[in-house]
Amino acid sequence: MHEQEQSLAFVPTMGALHDGHISLVELAKTKAAKVAVSIFVNPTQFAPHEDFDSYPRDIESDLKKLEKAGVALVYLPQEHDIYPHGKALTVKAGKQAKGLESDFRPHFFDGVTTVVKTLFDQVRPQIAIFGEKDYQQLLVISEMVQNEGLDIQIIGAPIARDEFGLALSSRNAYLSSDELEIARMLNQVLYKAAYDISEKRDENEALSEANQNLLAAGFDKIDYFSVRGHRVLCAAWLGKTRLIDNTEIPKSLK
Ligand code: PAF
Repeated sequence: MHEQEQSLAFVPTMGALHDGHISLVELAKTKAAKVAVSIFVNPTQFAPHEDFDSYPRDIESDLKKLEKAGVALVYLPQEHDIYPHGKALTVKAGKQAKGLESDFRPHFFDGVTTVVKTLFDQVRPQIAIFGEKDYQQLLVISEMVQNEGLDIQIIGAPIARDEFGLALSSRNAYLSSDELEIARMLNQVLYKAAYDISEKRDENEALSEANQNLLAAGFDKIDYFSVRGHRVLCAAWLGKTRLIDNTEIPKSLK
């Protein structure tokens, strides 16, 4: 039998599924015979002051979307299935977790690596798909898979965006209509910074201009606007909503 005929591709999620998640499922379908999706709002990746309680949950609608998308298996673990011995962070994130998100959400990546390793052990996929929107998360999980010696291929999926370029996110549901207008500027400021850097403008100058442009657009606070590897990554606040996005720095046309 051909390898792909027996394989399982896995898409871990926290639910409140949107077209971005479905694009991960569609990519998964091209990689393996069957696709499994998990829905679990993981408490250990939220700090006590963060939005664990208010995180959007809509299981009925999620299940309909997954059925329509042709998913073979949906795993809906309860907290005791993932944390039978209490919520200890048993899998520590590696060096990819340094900086960026960790400077503002220090608990986050150990929570992610712990839940993802547990889900991998339970679902036993050959392939797992993660969105590039959480780019640092993708790097952290790839590193975890290597460090733990897991035989799972990690694939990053391109960021799904709305017609204005806003990266799709379950947290976009928190935005008022005025905030949504402002949120749609984030990708434009990001692309401009990436373009400026590719054109060999001074990196610090391009990033500081991007910060100013975001504040001028109406963002309230910027956690970071930084370059890592060949990407520009940012996290910024609009009212109570924290948005993240990133893009590749294009190869210079010069
Ligand atoms: O990206 C997410 O939705 C979550 O961080 C993940 C990978 C499902 C782990 O809870």
